[in-house]
Amino acid sequence: MTDLALAIAHHIAVFGLVMMLAMEAGALRADRPDASLLARLDAGYGGASLAVLAIGAARLAWGAKGWDGYAENPYFWLKMGAFLLVGIASIPPTLIFQRWRKAARASGAGGEVPASDVARMRLWVWTELALVFLVVTAAAAMARWPF
Ligand code: HEM
Repeated sequence: MTDLALAIAHHIAVFGLVMMLAMEAGALRADRPDASLLARLDAGYGGASLAVLAIGAARLAWGAKGWDGYAENPYFWLKMGAFLLVGIASIPPTLIFQRWRKAARASGAGGEVPASDVARMRLWVWTELALVFLVVTAAAAMARWPF
């Protein structure tokens, strides 16, 4: 029962994380992206990411299979590496969304951001999404290894 509850929570947290990133990508397509919305979505992404990590770690500790098998599972390590890369790729958007929000507040411009850098941030967010797809692929392989 614990294993089932953790698996459900893990999937919900993962969908939450993907939803936040997809909404960030959408918000970055607007003519004048809303800095405040982007900063809030990014905070949501951060929360979802922490939840995925905490629940994932709980699955390792208390899941049906136990930690032992995973240490020798190459797809587990591929998954951890890809998850780490998602975190690294999320640093530039987080920093720039904060900067945009601060600038928008200082100018009283109501959350508008300069057009420069928007395309670059969109690329970072899509990079994060592509890496999450790699994590999902590794997750499926990890759950079934050895084939
Ligand atoms: C964006 C990050 C993540 C995504 C998208 C993700 C996705 C998934 C998916 C889809 C499964 C189900 C695999 C299947 O049964 O076919 C799964 C299982 C699992 N995940 Fe994650 N996960 C992520 C992060 C993590 C992290 C950070 C950990 C550990 C700290 C973790 C630990 C686990 C464990 C232990 C399982 C059970 C695998 C098994 O049944 O042997 N996950 N994950």
